[in-house]
Amino acid sequence: MSMCEHRGRGDDVTNGPALEGTYDVDGVVDAYLRHRHDPGSPNHVMEEPTIDRWLDDLTGLRVLDLGCGDGTFAPVCLARGAVSYVGVDASTGMIERARTGADQRASFVRAPIETLPVEPASVDLVVSRLALHYVADLDAVLAECRRRLGPDGRLVITVVHPVVSSALEVPSGPRTHQAVSAYFDEGPKHRSWFGTSVTWFHRTIETWLRALDTAGFSLVELAECAPDPDRFTDETELDRRRAVPVVLGLSARVRP
Ligand SMILES: C[S@@+](CC[C@H](N)C(=O)[O-])C[C@H]1O[C@@H](n2cnc3c(N)ncnc32)[C@H](O)[C@@H]1O
Repeated sequence: MSMCEHRGRGDDVTNGPALEGTYDVDGVVDAYLRHRHDPGSPNHVMEEPTIDRWLDDLTGLRVLDLGCGDGTFAPVCLARGAVSYVGVDASTGMIERARTGADQRASFVRAPIETLPVEPASVDLVVSRLALHYVADLDAVLAECRRRLGPDGRLVITVVHPVVSSALEVPSGPRTHQAVSAYFDEGPKHRSWFGTSVTWFHRTIETWLRALDTAGFSLVELAECAPDPDRFTDETELDRRRAVPVVLGLSARVRP
């Protein structure tokens, strides 16, 4: 199925890997989104400042967002000058919310990230925010990202930081420290997540960088997404957030 067929509201793609809406368990989408949109969430105080810095001007760009969730980034991209935006997510609940009231220049496809449901060389920026640690075959997905981008294409991703994705111990309350264990044991790790269980694929920083290189990208910048002091009103909470890196950001360009 081609991107052209998705212009407008988008369709579901059911070919390719199994369409698993991990988040489509009763209440998970709402619980996740309540947390995600809380002004104190790590998304807001740690991940978003890096995304804002890297992607402040999207003038003229065609954007593909892998694991777009409720599409919250679509209006932001369009307001920053993007000419089109395609969001891809496996979750029915997320895609329904994303399509509600969406701008005509944005379309949303319910599909596995692995299908990358757009034509080769049809986008200028592939972004993926906190979703690629759900993907088992990273090399295949990055190679397909490369194919969807033109020669000046950019890839910007954030993932759960390896210090957190490695850990076998998952804190039940607010995280004040992180015991790192099994750091070099890469692969699937099962977690409880807003009332369900999910599988994150843990990779070391070295593996993330090697995967980018193998797929034909040059790293522009790596960010460990330290909390932005301007987003805190409470010093104690800022200190707590300074204790553990939870998001890794990678900004890359297609290698000529
Ligand atoms: C932590 S949420 C992040 C959502 C959004 N990018 C944001 O920043 O708010 C991860 C999203 O990835 C989606 N997801 C995870 N694995 C996926 C896969 N293999 N294919 C498509 N979507 C996937 C989930 O449904 C979920 O919406």
